[in-house]
Amino acid sequence: MEKWSAATVRDFRKTLLAWYDDEGRDLPWRHGRNPYHTWISEVMLQQTQVNTVIPYYQNFLATFPTIEDLATAEEATLLKAWQGLGYYSRARNLQRAARQLVDDYHGQWPQTAAELEDLVGIGPYTASAIASIAFDQVVPAVDGNAFRVFARLLMIDDDIAKPKTRQRFTEIIQPIVDPQRPGAFNQAIMDLGSSYMTAKNPDPEHSPVKAFDASYRAGRVLDFPVKTKAPRPKLMPYYGLVIHSPAGYLMVQRGAQEMLTGYWSFPLVLQADLHPENSDATLADDVAEITRRWANDYQIPVDLAVVGGQPVSHTYTHQRWHVKLLTADLPTVPSLEFLPGKWVPAAEIAALPLPKVQEKMMARFAKQQDLPLFE
Ligand code: ADE
Repeated sequence: MEKWSAATVRDFRKTLLAWYDDEGRDLPWRHGRNPYHTWISEVMLQQTQVNTVIPYYQNFLATFPTIEDLATAEEATLLKAWQGLGYYSRARNLQRAARQLVDDYHGQWPQTAAELEDLVGIGPYTASAIASIAFDQVVPAVDGNAFRVFARLLMIDDDIAKPKTRQRFTEIIQPIVDPQRPGAFNQAIMDLGSSYMTAKNPDPEHSPVKAFDASYRAGRVLDFPVKTKAPRPKLMPYYGLVIHSPAGYLMVQRGAQEMLTGYWSFPLVLQADLHPENSDATLADDVAEITRRWANDYQIPVDLAVVGGQPVSHTYTHQRWHVKLLTADLPTVPSLEFLPGKWVPAAEIAALPLPKVQEKMMARFAKQQDLPLFE
C-alpha cells in the first residue's frame, strides 16, 4: 500500500477541493446545511443512484417538511413516498429515528458521528456523512465510493466485502480528510467515485487526482478495490394469486415479520411451503393444494387457472423471486373472516403502497388477460 507524506496529503486536499468547487455536482441536498435534509438524502442514496433519488428527495421533503412531520406521518403516506426506492425498511427506520429525535432529543440533533449512530437505521457511514456535511466534524464517510477511490489511489488490497475492512479504511482516510471542509471533502470523493473513478468505466487518465493515483501508475486500476463475490441470491418460487370478485381484487398487507412490511400485494404462496415432504410436486399438485387450503383455512372456494407466460421475476439482495400467477374470478364476494385481506376495486389499487413485485404482477396479469392496466 502507498503511504502519503504530510505534504502530499495537503496537496491532495487542495487539488481535490479545487476540482470539486469547479466541477462538483449541483445536487438539491447540497444547497444549505440542514441535518434533516442531509440525513434524508444520505439514507436514500445508500442503495440508490443519484438520478433516481432526486425526485424522491424533493417529493419526500415536500410531503414531510420537518422531522415532526415525518415523526407523525401516517404509515401509508410514508410507504407511498418511498414506493419504488427499494430497501423498504429504510423508510420505517427513518420514521423511528424521527420519533427518537422528537421524543428523546427534543428535536435537537446530536452532532457527532458516535452519537448519531445511536439513532435507528443510522450506521457508521450515514453518521459520518451527516456529522461532516451538516456539523463539520472531521471524519471520513466511508461508502462504496470511498472504498473504491482510496483503494485505487493508495492500492489498498483489503477485501471490502469483509466487515472489518471498513474500520481499516476509516483509519487510513481519517488523516487525509480536510480539517477545514470535511463535508466538501467527503462529497468530492463521492463525485470522483461517480465520474473519473467509477467501478466499471473509469477514466483515470483525465482524473483531477491522476498524480495521486498509485493504481493508475501501476496500470492496475481495475484490480482495485478487492472484493470477494457475494453468494448468488436464493431462488424463491412463489405463486401469486389474482383473486377477483364483484368487490374487486383481493389484496393483503405484508406483516411485521416479513420483508416489505406494510406494503400491499396479491396473496403470495411460497411453493416450498406447499409440499414440504415432496419435491416432485407438479404444477397441478400445487394448484390442488392451494385450492384445498383456501377452502379449509379461509372458507373461500377458488377455482384457479394458470396465467400464461414466464414467471414474474424480481431480485432482492439475498433472494430472487419467481412468481407464477394463478387467477380465479369469483361470482360472489366471499367473507374475509378467516383471511386478513381486503377487496380493492381495480381503480383503487394504485393508491395503496405497492412493492415493485406487485407492480410487475399487475402488469403481467393485465397483459396476459388483455385488460387495461390497474389505474
Ligand atoms: N452518494 C452518497 N451520498 C452522496 C452525496 N451526498 N452526494 C452525491 N452522491 C452521494
